[in-house]
Amino acid sequence: MLRKIVDQNYIKSTFRVKPQAEKLSYILLDTRFIHLGDNMNFNLFFQNKQEKMSLLLRSDTIINEYLLDKLQKIEQVYVSLVDKNKYEYFIENHLQTLLKDTSLTIDEKTDLIYASSSELTQSLYDNPNALENAQRSKNIITPILQSIIYHDDTIASYIKIIEYDYYTHTHSLNVSIYALCLGAELGLLDDELTSLGRAALLHDLGKSKIEYELVNKNGELSIDEFQEMKMHPLFGYDIAVNIGIDNQEILDGIRHHHEKLDGNGYPDGLKAYEITLFPRIISICDIFDALTTTRSYKPAMTSFQTLQLMKKEMETHLDMQILDTFIKMLHK
Ligand SMILES: [Fe+2]
Ligand SMILES: [Fe+2]
Repeated sequence: MLRKIVDQNYIKSTFRVKPQAEKLSYILLDTRFIHLGDNMNFNLFFQNKQEKMSLLLRSDTIINEYLLDKLQKIEQVYVSLVDKNKYEYFIENHLQTLLKDTSLTIDEKTDLIYASSSELTQSLYDNPNALENAQRSKNIITPILQSIIYHDDTIASYIKIIEYDYYTHTHSLNVSIYALCLGAELGLLDDELTSLGRAALLHDLGKSKIEYELVNKNGELSIDEFQEMKMHPLFGYDIAVNIGIDNQEILDGIRHHHEKLDGNGYPDGLKAYEITLFPRIISICDIFDALTTTRSYKPAMTSFQTLQLMKKEMETHLDMQILDTFIKMLHK
């Protein structure tokens, strides 16, 4: 019986393709995501010695020991871009199982979780209005949160691998990781942390409604450009409502992450007591990540320089008690 399954599914058929061009139409799948009993509902490919993509495993195959062994021996396994949605769904659902995998170290786990979450976040930011994003934000946040709750050394491990180049999706993922770590440090409960992580992941969703050139402009913005950029928290709030997010704390986190305690923030010019906990946490993580990443027009500041600047020059903007907890957390 085992033999039969193998014979039916372990097929190698070579397609005539231009390797480079063809490779662009495939996504690399880390085989550490594949476990015994998984039902692969998309075709898997590998690159043969002639650098041609060859079919390795036909869609709707259940992984048995033989196949698992084969897959683990092949360094790089690919999925066609045609199956991108199925692949992303598979990864989303397998991020959880990864945490229980005793053969992986905590650094390997955080590395895999970060890389996959980054890909999924990019898809989310590429199609901000997709209704499934409400669920996707939860599927990305949950494994990160669980890894933080169940392993003491996870925070350090994440901080080590956080991407220091600025892209909206990695920035958003980084802000959500910082926010989850900080929220846990502040003693928030699991449900609150999930909401906080989702708000942080989605906080800049509104930038998708602003011209790409403006969002990625090198250097200072003109007054008009800045006025336009200031609209992103409102745009993000609208998108979140439209995709079905009705949790007020999450919506606050998105809409108010640029508010300042002295009332000089935007878009609503809220004063201290009007700013709820989520935006207070997210704004600290947001500024820290933005300043410690490299942009084309400025080098990254060190963590020390950034925290010093935040302490000295943003005293009237940020919640200093939360900032102190953040500093303690980073230096643990
Ligand atoms: Fe923002
Ligand atoms: Fe941001």
